[in-house]
Amino acid sequence: TESTRELLLSRIRDVRDYPKPGVLFKDITPLLADPAAFAALTDTLAELCVRHGATKVVGLEARGFILAAPVAVRAGLGFVPVRKAGKLPGATLSQAYALEYGTAEIEIHAEDLSADDRIMVIDDVLATGGTAEASLELIRRAGAEVAGVAVLMELGFLPGRARLEKGLRGAPLEVLITV
Ligand code: PRP
Ligand code: MG
Repeated sequence: TESTRELLLSRIRDVRDYPKPGVLFKDITPLLADPAAFAALTDTLAELCVRHGATKVVGLEARGFILAAPVAVRAGLGFVPVRKAGKLPGATLSQAYALEYGTAEIEIHAEDLSADDRIMVIDDVLATGGTAEASLELIRRAGAEVAGVAVLMELGFLPGRARLEKGLRGAPLEVLITV
């Protein structure tokens, strides 16, 4: 609802010139520290998981973990972490993707997803879309279906949505707040 959106927005702090000059950082720690706001966010995302028929929730390291884990518990679904490369001990699938400068790599335990799964990907921010796009690759390569991508915030001045479009293959992109 609009009041939930306003509550969430009011708990996101703008930090000027972080992590470097000219960047306006959107800090979600005030939201996490407010139990009413964190609960409202968790409930909203859990509802989206149920509405889109998700069977598991994938959270994207690191900030995505904070949001996705309580959502999985709230929705009664399993939680599967997508980690930065080199952190998972089992048999992993890896996906490299382009950053503004250089590349990054993320991994998943393939055995945590099956052909019967429909996955909701949760993260805090959609910026260039690179991280989310790479996570969709991992999910499909693991043989599961994508139920959707849900983020707290979309940076509307960046082309993340367009970049993600193809990878979604018609699955929904749910954005609670566009900044
Ligand atoms: C941030 C943010 C998203 C991602 C969005 O993560 O939490 O995961 O960038 O950017 P993109 O759409 O351009 O891929 P980051 O890796 O900076 O740090 P984190 O480990 O704190 O989540
Ligand atoms: Mg992140």
